[in-house]
Amino acid sequence: MTIKAVVFDAYGTLFDVYSIQVLAEELYPNHGADIALKWRDKQIEYTRLITQSDPHNASGSQYFRPFWELTRLSLEYTLDRLKLNRESSQVEKLMQQYAHLTPFTENLAVLQKIKASGFTTAILSNGSEDMLASAVKSAGMEDVLDHVISVDPIRLFKTSPESYGLVQQTIPINKDEILFVSSNAWDALGANWFGFTTHWVNRQGLPFEALTPRPNYSGADLKSVLQSLKLTE
Ligand code: LAC
Repeated sequence: MTIKAVVFDAYGTLFDVYSIQVLAEELYPNHGADIALKWRDKQIEYTRLITQSDPHNASGSQYFRPFWELTRLSLEYTLDRLKLNRESSQVEKLMQQYAHLTPFTENLAVLQKIKASGFTTAILSNGSEDMLASAVKSAGMEDVLDHVISVDPIRLFKTSPESYGLVQQTIPINKDEILFVSSNAWDALGANWFGFTTHWVNRQGLPFEALTPRPNYSGADLKSVLQSLKLTE
């Protein structure tokens, strides 16, 4: 297979969703790590619940809400669940930080190398268009990404086949010529089922999902994508 385009998941892969735990810890001492983990889990759970329940017919989606809204609702749920005081100023601070999440340190150099080597580069994310734009901008990644693709227009989240299908509408090449990179094992699996070539960035040293197939490639951080593309660092 010849890879022509490299498409990245955003949250967890390019932007560190657990970096939020530092601010969460400041605002809610001893709960930072728990908030970060539960918040992320609930956020993803809501995307699945909605896409699984929405009627896939001419009447369109009824339950869809942009990822930004789901991010806020899942934070509010998490604070309630942990019986923490949910003041709007605290929620606002955490949401503002979410709009400017810290990118993993190696990412910018890896993206620059991939782009300079002639690959088309893109993000495919559940994220809303605005939140992706602000995260990409604050990470200084505007020049190294050819496309930033949000699921917003189709109102279906990953791992629906329609969501992965958005990539080929923007980059019309064969599925297996697209290397899809995600640090979320479920996302790498969904992309693999769809037909992309996949690379799992296993930052936390987790086992892969018990479901098959395994990703075509994997590594501990984004630098490992260079090896999959046979590029030197
Ligand atoms: C994304 C989330 C799910 O960026 O990580 O699509």
